[in-house]
Amino acid sequence: MANHANNRPRLIVGNWKMNGSLAANAALLDALAQAPAAGCARVVCPPFPYLAQAATLLAGSEVALGAQNCGHAAAGAYTGEVAAPMLAELGCRYVIVGHSERRAMFGDDDARVAAKTALAFEHGLTPILCVGETLAQYEAGQATAVIDGQLDAVLGTLDAGRIDRLVIAYEPIWAIGTGRSASAEQVDAALERIAAAVARHAASARPQLLYGGSVTAATAQWLAPLARVDGVLVGGASLQAEAFLAIEQAFAAAGQTARG
Ligand code: 13P
Repeated sequence: MANHANNRPRLIVGNWKMNGSLAANAALLDALAQAPAAGCARVVCPPFPYLAQAATLLAGSEVALGAQNCGHAAAGAYTGEVAAPMLAELGCRYVIVGHSERRAMFGDDDARVAAKTALAFEHGLTPILCVGETLAQYEAGQATAVIDGQLDAVLGTLDAGRIDRLVIAYEPIWAIGTGRSASAEQVDAALERIAAAVARHAASARPQLLYGGSVTAATAQWLAPLARVDGVLVGGASLQAEAFLAIEQAFAAAGQTARG
């Protein structure tokens, strides 16, 4: 029953957010590029201006490149935006869409997230769709309705093949950058509900399901054995090679023992 869909390797994704510098990135990327492969897919998502630097330093390594966002149009008069085809040209394979920080601070509503998801697919990128509820919504018992709404708005625009190739990250807003991770039970229950929502749109689709929110090497120890968790979306801990690789190691170890 493991949802390690279609035997795809588990995904360890670093979302650097608005952090980094040429010098700091070089040290981090070199360490990640040189670390031996652990059987997981290792992905880093630096800020836009550093994508070219990252593509160069990661060339020939197993580490894949992703972006943190893309524009809702393929080109045009959108000052300050970066389009999906540009990301593909720079060597990105993934793009995060609908992160709660974008939804809360930059006007990324459901329609815009759906447009970005479609553009990502059209230009050969794998979208990592983020969904999650606020603490107030969680405490009011609205988490499922909120997440279902976020999912329906995007899944309703995709065919089954694209839903199958999508990556969905459950990131409860109350767990992001707070040091307060969701519990194993909360993660498992949320991912079960997400899988049910997916099944309503495409019964045979098995998108990879990630958890994000204060993931550390310590929380990875109990996240990794959870059968529904296909990987993690890591913020703060992805800025240090040692911490990020320790998270990957936890998943690699669980994969070998629990799943063979
Ligand atoms: P933290 O790991 O810093 O809580 O961030 C999570 C996140 O938002 C990843 O996208």
